[in-house]
Amino acid sequence: MSSPVLSVRGLTTEFVTPAGVVKAVNDVSWDLFPGETLGVVGESGSGKSVTAMSILGLIQSPPGRITGGEILFEGRDLLTMPTKELRRLRGSEIGMIFQDPMTSLNPVLTVGAQISEALRLHDRKMSKDAARTRAVELLTMVGVPNPEGRFDQYPHEHSGGMRQRAMIAMAIANDPKVLIADEPTTALDVTIQAQVLDVLKTAKERTNAATILITHDLGLIAEHADRVVVMYGGKVVEVADVFSIFAAPRHPYTLGLMSSLPRLDVDLARLDPIPGAPPNLIDLPPGCSFHPRCRVSKGRELCRTEVPPLYDTGNGARAACHFSEEVPAEMAVVSREMGARLGSSGA
Ligand SMILES: Nc1ncnc2c1ncn2[C@@H]1O[C@H](COP(=O)(O)OP(=O)(O)O)[C@@H](O)[C@H]1O
Ligand code: SF4
Ligand SMILES: [Mg+2]
Repeated sequence: MSSPVLSVRGLTTEFVTPAGVVKAVNDVSWDLFPGETLGVVGESGSGKSVTAMSILGLIQSPPGRITGGEILFEGRDLLTMPTKELRRLRGSEIGMIFQDPMTSLNPVLTVGAQISEALRLHDRKMSKDAARTRAVELLTMVGVPNPEGRFDQYPHEHSGGMRQRAMIAMAIANDPKVLIADEPTTALDVTIQAQVLDVLKTAKERTNAATILITHDLGLIAEHADRVVVMYGGKVVEVADVFSIFAAPRHPYTLGLMSSLPRLDVDLARLDPIPGAPPNLIDLPPGCSFHPRCRVSKGRELCRTEVPPLYDTGNGARAACHFSEEVPAEMAVVSREMGARLGSSGA
């Protein structure tokens, strides 16, 4: 395998709050390889966005602070890079797409002006006219109808889906090596979601940027990711390629996420939500922080007392579970339970 374009190593990000220190990202490590789409998935509050914001140097301090780790972009640590240089990297080498385009689009500048500005910031010799031509090309590429007219409109004059397309255009304007998309379609209607994801996919293919797709939706992961990082309570609990994750998850939390996926063939919104609540990040449960919700643990002491490391589970996959070898059998049990329930509900 080629060397990673981005390596997160032992990243730890905290927030100091009146209630205590929130351990939002806790010793997180993973690699992003050129050209791949890495899916980062987990329930709300698991530390996905804080990881992205840490990579981008956008953690506000206070209340936030990065207390450990390295973020290596082509071998250079973003955490120790001068702010000016990091700002230049953001928007050229690293493109970003957020859930709410209004957080990255400036409301008082036209969409075209913003894309042009991104282009000219990167290439200072580019003329205004050349930037306009390129920006219109980009808007065309992301499927914005009447791109010439749209160029001169303000973000609020665009629908949510159009704004998201404009943000994708801006993110890929300078052919980034890395694209970070954090819940890029969560705020959109389902039909628009599919269109915007298609645009993102095309944009990714055109630029061949390695992409980090952050989502709480395992369905999106199945469709778009090559490899998957599963986060729980600020930690990575499983890493594997997308086929292995779905065919044979090795962490009980991943199994729980899978069995709570909505199914189109069944008239039930959520089949089997994971019982209990996400952990309190100020006061994590001792041992494995998933133990209060885990159906594999069966109350075993090891789960309550020892933090599981990310064990190698073969084929480059890893899972932070003391009993990961029991997960396949549990998956069979879950399938039988679901089958029985569906049978008795007449579905
Ligand atoms: N500015 C902040 N102050 C305090 N806590 C924060 C702040 N930003 C994020 N957090 C906490 O960090 C945790 C992880 O958040 P986040 O990364 O946004 O989760 P998600 O996986 O849903 O993207 C959450 O518990 C959240 O409340
Ligand atoms: S270590 Fe124990 S509690 Fe944690 S996921 Fe594995 S079986 Fe469940
Ligand atoms: Mg988030």
